Amino acid sequence: MSKYVLVTGGAGYIGSHTVVALVENGYTPIILDDFRNANRIVLEGLTKILGFLPEIIEVDVCDDKALRAIFQKYSFEGIIHFAAYKAVGESVQTPLKYYQNNLSGLINILNKMLEFGVKNLVFSSSCTVYGEPKKIKEVSEDSPKNLPSSPYGYTKWIGEQIMEDTFLAHPELCLINLRYFNPVGAHKSSFIGEFPLGKPSNLLPFVTQTAVGKQDFLTVFGNDYPTRDGTCIRDYIHVMDLAEAHVKALAFLEDHKKGCLEAVNIGTGKGTSVLEIISCFEEVSKCKLNWSFGPKREGDVVEIFANCDKASNLLGWKSKLSINDAVIDAWKWELFLSEK
Ligand code: WQD
Repeated sequence: MSKYVLVTGGAGYIGSHTVVALVENGYTPIILDDFRNANRIVLEGLTKILGFLPEIIEVDVCDDKALRAIFQKYSFEGIIHFAAYKAVGESVQTPLKYYQNNLSGLINILNKMLEFGVKNLVFSSSCTVYGEPKKIKEVSEDSPKNLPSSPYGYTKWIGEQIMEDTFLAHPELCLINLRYFNPVGAHKSSFIGEFPLGKPSNLLPFVTQTAVGKQDFLTVFGNDYPTRDGTCIRDYIHVMDLAEAHVKALAFLEDHKKGCLEAVNIGTGKGTSVLEIISCFEEVSKCKLNWSFGPKREGDVVEIFANCDKASNLLGWKSKLSINDAVIDAWKWELFLSEK
C-alpha cells in the first residue's frame, strides 16, 4: 500500500532532496511544483538517483481548484509544504509578492487538509522567526521569537501563527514547524543541487558561481559586525541532513495518534562566519576566490545558530554531515552544472 506524501515545491532545492529521502524511506512522494523557482534539470537528476521519476503535478499551490483535484485523486499520509519564496534580501524589495504567495499557499494547504481529512503537515519554517537573537545567539525553540528582520521572515512568523490558530480550532491535526537554519550543499551524486534562478541571493551558490566565472566577484556584505571576524555568522546545514529531518518529522506525526503542534530547530548547532565559508571553499576547491567587502545587506541578522536538543529528543534526528562535506558537495554540483 503506497504511503502518498504531497511535497509542494518538491522540484525545488530542499524539496527535491527530500523527495529522494522519502523514496529511500518507503514513501511515495507526489511533487506539486509550478517551476517558478525550480529548474527542470532536477527531473533528470531525480530519475538518475531514483531510477524513476516520481509523479509531478505542475500547478500553483495557491490554485484552489487544482489543489482540490489532487486531494480527490490521492489519499495522503501527509503533506510537506515547501512551496514559498525564500530570499531574505529579495523580500525586502518585493514584500507583497512574498506575503501573497507564501501565506496563501499555506492557507490553501490547510483548508484542503481539513476538507479531505488529512492530518499530518510538515511546514517549512525558518530560523528567521527568531529575528535577531538578543544576548544568546544559540536559539532553542522556546527562545523568544523577536520580530523578524525581513518580510520573508514575517511570512514564516505569521505562517507559524496560522498553524497554531488552526491547531487550536482543529486539535485533531498533527502539525510540525521545522525551523531550518541555512541549507547548503547538494546530493552526493551531484545530479541534484541548488539551482538559483538568476543571480543567487544565498552565500554558497554565489561563492561557487564566482569560482566558475558565472559571477565576476563575491561581495561580502559587511565587515564590522560584532562577531569573531566581523562578518555574519549562520548555522549552515547540509541539505541531505535537512531532507532526512523531514522524513523523521513525518514519522513522528504518523506515530502521533492524537493531535499535536510542535516547532523544531533543524541545524548543526554550530555557527560559521562568511569569511570561514570562503576559506573552507578555497581549501576544498584549491581556487582563490575573487571577493571584496561591501556594505551591509538590509534584513541581515548578525549571528544565529541552533540548539538542536529537541530535534534529537523528539525526532531522533541529528545532523551528520559537516560544513566541509557541504562545501565539497556544492562545489561538485557547480562543476557538474558548468559541464552541461
Ligand atoms: C548568509 C550570510 C549574508 C550572499 C537564508 C535563506 C533563508 C533562510 C535563512 C531557510 C549573510 C552573507 C550572502 C552574498 C554575503 N533559510 N552573504 N554575500 O540571509 O541567512 O537566509 O537562511 O529558511 O531562506 O535565504 O542566507 O546565504 O543569503 O546569507 O556576504 O553574496 O552570507 O550577508 O550574512 P540568510 P544567505
